[in-house]
Amino acid sequence: AMKLLNVAGFFALVPTLVSALEPITTSLAFCGAAVMWQLFSPASWLKCRFLECCNMKDTLDIPALQMALEQKVFGQHLATQVVLKALSAHSRDKQPRKPLVMSFHGWTGTGKTFVSKIIARNLYQRHEARRRFVHQYDAVLHFPHAEHIKQYKKQLQNWIRGNVSICPRSLFIFSEMDQMPHGLIDSIMPYLSHREAINGVYYGKAIFLFLNNAGGDKIIEVALDHWRRQKGREEIPLTDLQSMLSAEIFNNRNSGFWKSKLIQNNLVDYFIPFLPLEYKHVKECIQEELRYQGHQEDEDLIIKIALAMSDYPSEDRIYSSKGCKTVASKVNLAT
Ligand SMILES: Nc1ncnc2c1ncn2[C@@H]1O[C@H](COP(=O)(O)OP(=O)(O)OP(=O)(O)O)[C@@H](O)[C@H]1O
Ligand SMILES: *[C@@H]1O[C@H](CO)[C@@H](O)[C@H](O)[C@H]1NC(C)=O
Ligand SMILES: [Mg+2]
Repeated sequence: AMKLLNVAGFFALVPTLVSALEPITTSLAFCGAAVMWQLFSPASWLKCRFLECCNMKDTLDIPALQMALEQKVFGQHLATQVVLKALSAHSRDKQPRKPLVMSFHGWTGTGKTFVSKIIARNLYQRHEARRRFVHQYDAVLHFPHAEHIKQYKKQLQNWIRGNVSICPRSLFIFSEMDQMPHGLIDSIMPYLSHREAINGVYYGKAIFLFLNNAGGDKIIEVALDHWRRQKGREEIPLTDLQSMLSAEIFNNRNSGFWKSKLIQNNLVDYFIPFLPLEYKHVKECIQEELRYQGHQEDEDLIIKIALAMSDYPSEDRIYSSKGCKTVASKVNLAT
């Protein structure tokens, strides 16, 4: 709003300034020059407003991100708190010493992809900017053959270098990390290290997210243990989980980070646990889905679907083994 006022004030002043000269042509020339200057300066306000812009200072709205995380993501207080803190600290820093690297862990359907989409959407509200500056690599899709690892390493380095030199504030999302060929992820190590620019490209503003099912079983053990000792979900200590996760994925052959130098050299800033979802969270997902599909929010139906989805461990049925992943299809079937 301040910027709008500034611009408005500028345009309002122009005619009075030049009225002594030839008023109309001169003020038109001034306006034209102002617009051109805005369009051609790399991170200008006008360009960010109407075209694409990769400058997070102008695009990441922390209160909006916080609201989206709090309202849309159920049962993940640990994950949403860490993500929010990490992103606001990194975006406040004018010259971060290294890119922000976060690794999401948890069972299927607990919201890892969902949260990464919320981050992308709040980093770049405009679809065109999202398409250009947010890069998603699916291990199964992009790196299917372990024997081509040499070529993948080169390709990945080129992609990251190329994209960060176009936009320092690029977002890279690696999904299905557990399917990643051994050793591939270490090829991006130089870009994640604490350093000044490499060959003129500065990587400190980039953001890397890794989505991983590895560690999910350990998170469930901790959560179950708390539940059995009748302690609240809110009492689960984050620090214990984080150090447990880093050890677990380093020693797990199928985590994508097996014996990885990224872990050894502490280049992953945050290991973020996604807790298993409980009956009440599944209910919230179902309610949300009903609302989204434009159906009535029928309490009996919500309870029926949620009960059928709460199936782990089999004797207690506290958690949903698929999280909220199959909610949409269950709702489709039932309505
Ligand atoms: N914690 C949650 N809060 C709200 N909705 C959720 C949550 N978790 C999952 N969902 C819903 O379920 C859908 C599937 O979840 P998502 O794709 O994020 O799971 P995931 O953790 O990435 O699973 P996978 O490990 O299989 O990739 C989401 O699109 C969202 O609608
Ligand atoms: C950016 O990354 C994409 C893959 O996500 C790749 O296809 C593209 O070539 C990269 N751009 C540059 C300039 O390297
Ligand atoms: Mg996912």
